[in-house]
Amino acid sequence: MANFKLGFIGAGFIAKFQAKAVSQIRGVDLAGVCALKGAEELADYANKAGIGPCAVYPSVAELCKAVDAVAIFAPNMARIQLMQEICDAVQAGAGIKGVICEKPLGRTVAEAAQIVELAKRTGLPTAYFENQVHMKGIRAQMEQLAPVQAQMGPLALARSSEEHSGPHEPWFWDPTRQGGGVLSDMGCHSIAVGWYVLTPVGKPATFLEPISVSATTSLLKWGVPRYRKELLDRMGVDYAKTPAEDFCTGIVTFKNPETSQLVQAQFTNSWMYDKQGLRLAMDGLGPGYAFELNSLKSPLEIFIGDQAAEAAADTELALEKSTASRGLLAVETNEADLYGYVDEIQDAVASFQAGRDGFLNFEYGAMITKLCQAAYMSAEEGKTIYLTDKDTQAALKNYKSLISQGRGAEVLF
Ligand SMILES: NC(=O)c1ccc[n+]([C@@H]2O[C@H](COP(=O)([O-])OP(=O)(O)OC[C@H]3O[C@@H](n4cnc5c(N)ncnc54)[C@H](O)[C@@H]3O)[C@@H](O)[C@H]2O)c1
Repeated sequence: MANFKLGFIGAGFIAKFQAKAVSQIRGVDLAGVCALKGAEELADYANKAGIGPCAVYPSVAELCKAVDAVAIFAPNMARIQLMQEICDAVQAGAGIKGVICEKPLGRTVAEAAQIVELAKRTGLPTAYFENQVHMKGIRAQMEQLAPVQAQMGPLALARSSEEHSGPHEPWFWDPTRQGGGVLSDMGCHSIAVGWYVLTPVGKPATFLEPISVSATTSLLKWGVPRYRKELLDRMGVDYAKTPAEDFCTGIVTFKNPETSQLVQAQFTNSWMYDKQGLRLAMDGLGPGYAFELNSLKSPLEIFIGDQAAEAAADTELALEKSTASRGLLAVETNEADLYGYVDEIQDAVASFQAGRDGFLNFEYGAMITKLCQAAYMSAEEGKTIYLTDKDTQAALKNYKSLISQGRGAEVLF
């Protein structure tokens, strides 16, 4: 059988990470790239890494004609336009077998609904990329604990966090383009993985019903004048005028529809975690059992003293969002695998080949968007948001957080 040809739309940070993931999967090529910037470089990487042949395409339409599936790896504000272009290409006869979209599916509930609608028009299977649900560590604890869970009952509390020192591109920091701050950017990961680990083994990913969300958003580091100036100088984004939250925490309550048991997922996210680099931390507590995962605990540590510091040319070789080039460094040797990228691509390709949606489809992505937006609403209104309430559901349909409107100063200071 010929290799499955993937086409990437976008050639930035995540596209490069996903290319590393592709290099670890048999039977899948990165065959094409279409991007405003960086396409040549990524295609060159693919060809040198032996995961091509990979060509650069000038338009989404041309890319869709040349590959078996396309993945939207471009910034959040380009989602609708790109999904529309994919839809037009398919309606004009492009023979792709599936569409992948990175998180978040939309910046608002309305945008996510539009993406779902456009994907439906194509009639194609979809895969929403939420890598943490695919992490080998998360899957392994579930497998290991399945017999315990069957005897003792499911997990009752999950706590998930993703934190680093701040994003790499200006558009992430700008709430009007990104859709918010760290809650929109990384809260989606933590809410999704919390929901997933709480789900009783063998049940679908949406089995537990979201009942309520309560959250707070705050600006703890990047609003302080000294760091606000640093951000303005480095990224051109002015948090005196259009701030976004650099910290969020909250609780989502779910109900088991068979037993009516309530379980909770707590999420915490920050752009002010100035430790070694990115840290994903999850734990789960069940009756008489537990699991704990910390992505910064690597079996490999490197020490670089002050005198030798010049030798560390590229600190991100050690870890995503590395903050240090000396001292005791945590080194992760295969982050594309550790964070679940390898497994999510494998799942999408196998699913599309079988003519079905990936493990998480666009409808699921739209639900995660809704939970994130409910969290913004909760933080803005200072109260718990009940998703069981019809008026709340109606309000969420057209809700756009103050922070994403550029009015963060009204809620963050
Ligand atoms: N799952 C994860 O852990 C993870 C990590 C980082 C980013 N992401 C998501 O991936 C997406 C991209 O993020 P990134 O960090 O790679 O961004 P980035 O800014 O590093 O790269 C974006 C790429 O998209 C291209 N692009 C922009 N507009 C385009 C358009 N209209 N058409 C074609 N190409 C266009 C840019 O030229 C660039 O190549 C975002 O939605 C982000 O939320 C997910």
